[in-house]
Amino acid sequence: MTDSIEFDLIIAGSGLAGLRAAIEAAKKNQKIKIGVIAKTQVMRSHSVSAEGGTAAVIQEDKGDTIESHIYDTVKGSDFLADQDTAEKLCHMMPNEIFQLEHWGMPWSRQENGKIDQRNFGGYSFPRATYAIDKVGFFEMQTLYDTCQKFDNIEFLNEWYITSIIHDGKQFCGITAIETSSGSFYTIKGKALIIATGGAGRIFSYSTYALSSTPDGLDMAYRAGMALKDMEFVQFHPTGILPSGILITEGARGEGGYLLNKDGDRFMKNYAAGKMELAPRDIVSRSIMTEINEGRGFKHETGEDCMKLDLRHLGDEKIKAKLGGIREISIKFSGIDPADEPIDIRPVCHYMMGGIHTNIDGAAELQGVWAAGEAACNSVHGANRLGANSTSECIVWGKITGSLAVDYIEKEHTSAQFPTHLVAAEETRIFDGIFRGRGDVNPYEVKQEVAEILNAKAYVYRNHNDLAEGLKKVRELKQKTWKHVDDSAKEYNTNFQNVMELDSMFRVAEIVLLGAINRKESRGAHSRTDFPTRDDANFLHHTLAYYDPSEPIMKKHPVTITKYKPVERKY
Ligand code: FUM
Repeated sequence: MTDSIEFDLIIAGSGLAGLRAAIEAAKKNQKIKIGVIAKTQVMRSHSVSAEGGTAAVIQEDKGDTIESHIYDTVKGSDFLADQDTAEKLCHMMPNEIFQLEHWGMPWSRQENGKIDQRNFGGYSFPRATYAIDKVGFFEMQTLYDTCQKFDNIEFLNEWYITSIIHDGKQFCGITAIETSSGSFYTIKGKALIIATGGAGRIFSYSTYALSSTPDGLDMAYRAGMALKDMEFVQFHPTGILPSGILITEGARGEGGYLLNKDGDRFMKNYAAGKMELAPRDIVSRSIMTEINEGRGFKHETGEDCMKLDLRHLGDEKIKAKLGGIREISIKFSGIDPADEPIDIRPVCHYMMGGIHTNIDGAAELQGVWAAGEAACNSVHGANRLGANSTSECIVWGKITGSLAVDYIEKEHTSAQFPTHLVAAEETRIFDGIFRGRGDVNPYEVKQEVAEILNAKAYVYRNHNDLAEGLKKVRELKQKTWKHVDDSAKEYNTNFQNVMELDSMFRVAEIVLLGAINRKESRGAHSRTDFPTRDDANFLHHTLAYYDPSEPIMKKHPVTITKYKPVERKY
């Protein structure tokens, strides 16, 4: 018998989307029991690392419009965004900026005291609402503080969720391991919101926290829900060498230049109208083209790179508006950007894909929603605009929190709990992994998978690389890595590492298969062998469903309301 606990609403993940969902649900019904369950401590959620801004239209008096935010988002997405979903994001965001302020968010201010906004890539107006360059940290602190007002929110920090339990019709609960004790639990619930974030650690050069592995996506996938558009991976133009830590787009928003080895602001050759503030897919491709054509720099590690020059902004502005990245640069690369340009190259930063949901965040299993980066409600299509991600977390955190309460109050019906599935999961986890046998080092395998993805599915892709990547990942999957050397029950991070790797294999395979199948270039998915967008054949989303042998791939239509796809020019 496993230990068992019970909530009405389970929220998996304690980042921005999870916390916003918890607040909305707790506000709406103070009697329901809400459990926020995550494998990290709350303030270790990856949302804390968001730097540059949260997009919203709050300066209509100065000429900004919601319509413009919608169009920028759709155009940025290379017309793969569901346009009704983009409309929802842009209409709901302005209130959320003020709601956060009322909860204590210390937004940076203009001299007149009004909330300030900065430029970000792909926008027609300065629309990134910011708090120095530590937006995620302050948003998380604001939401976490607000959660403390509600007695019905309970946090289970450092719990690793292993599976979703359902009876074939509706959600019934989850299984999870409490990291501190190593005990395996059944956690029953009426509704689930998956807000476990992105999975960017399947790439080796990554801005993500080490915890950003695909276990959240994988548990939904194994439970029968589709993952959507996983081939669309965002490479942020400015990851600092050698670590890959994010140097915010805010640095370019405040006026930073990208320079090649001839000292040229090369973006004039790729997006003359927007220069360094073109959307990320275009800037990252431009950097890689410069490098491939021999106009890059060599970093001391041997990596090719470009320079991000902030010197002309001056010491005072850098300290006041970009203090966080100045500190990162000094600590992690030994360079003060006030004195010297920074070495950067495109870095895995965001997954446009995730758990397939409808416009309201409802997943394909009754009683389950997904919000934030774990979800793919298709608001970002093939390429997300910077600052639209924290916005998405907040908007769909709120929506799903509210809808999950409606469901618990009005629609959920009690059913027999499928205990046999818990027993099967226990066998999969403990006999299949914990007591597995093998002689291959799982840490090395984890690194190898991430390096394959980086080498074969980076900014520019082609069939041969992707097919070779898939073959190598599948070969590695066959090796005997499913074993845990550390037999301790308590805080067994070795065990967790191997479970994370297990999820990486399935999700890496979907990324590669989706990229092989999409024989066109659209947004962040850029094929040198199919260099143009092909609306006739590929204006559709990709769905991947679980099958023990290999994913079953399907197509899903794109919702187009007002904007016919046209060629993107900046
Ligand atoms: O560059 C940045 O600050 C990142 C923002 C984002 O991904 O939205």
